[in-house]
Amino acid sequence: MKRKAIVIVLTLALAGATLVIVQMRRHGFSARENPSWLEAAIARRLRNFAIPASAKKMTNPYPFTDARWRSARDHFIAHCAVCHGPDGRGDTPIGRNLYPKVPNLTGAGTQQLTDGELYYIISNGVRFTGMPAWGDEDRPESIWELVAFIRRLPHLSSEEREQMEKLFESRERGKEGEAIETHTHGPEAQPHQH
Ligand code: HEC
Repeated sequence: MKRKAIVIVLTLALAGATLVIVQMRRHGFSARENPSWLEAAIARRLRNFAIPASAKKMTNPYPFTDARWRSARDHFIAHCAVCHGPDGRGDTPIGRNLYPKVPNLTGAGTQQLTDGELYYIISNGVRFTGMPAWGDEDRPESIWELVAFIRRLPHLSSEEREQMEKLFESRERGKEGEAIETHTHGPEAQPHQH
C-alpha cells in the first residue's frame, strides 16, 4: 500500500516536471506571454495557502484618518504606482509587461483578501513575481495605512483619481529632470544636459 502511494506521488511529480519542461520549450521564458488561467489559479492558490493562518487573521490596529489617507497616498505614489499605477489598476508600462502581470488592486481578487493577507503580501513580497518585500523599508504603521488605502481604491471619487494621477505625473517629471541634469555617457565624461 505504502509502495503504491510512493509510485503515485513519483508519477505525479514526473508528470508535473514534464509539463513544465514542455511549456518552457514551447513558450520559452519570455515575460511577454500571459500565464494560462490554470497556471494563474494554481500560483494564486499556492500563494494564499502559504500565508500563515495567524497572519490572515491580523486586523488593522490603526484608525484610518484623513492624515493617514494623505500619507498612504503619497507613499503609494512614491513606491507602488510605478507598477500598480496611481489608481491601483496596474495599467503601467511595467505592470502590464511583468510575468505575471500586476493585478488590478481595485478588483474582486484583491479586495477579497483579508487585511492580514494584504499586510503579509506587502511586507513579504511574492517570490517569483515582480512584487517586492517592503517589510524592511517601511514601518508596520505605514504598511497598515497602505492596507486601508487599498480598501479605499475601488471607491475613489474622480477628483481623488485625478489628483493622484497629477501627483504621479509630477513625480515622474521630477525624476526625468534629475536624470537629465546629472547623467553622463562614460566614466570620463562630465555630467551634462542635452
Ligand atoms: C516592481 C513592481 C511592483 C512594485 C513596485 C510593487 N508591486 Fe505589488 N505586486 C506586483 C506584482 C507583479 C504583483 C502580483 C504578485 C502575484 O502574482 O502573486 C503584486 C501584488 C501585490 C498585491 C497582491 C494583490 C493580489 O490581488 O494578489 C498587493 C496588495 C500589492 N502588490 C501591493 C503593493 C504595494 C502597497 C506596493 C508599494 C509599497 C507595491 N505593491 C509595489 C508588482 C509590484
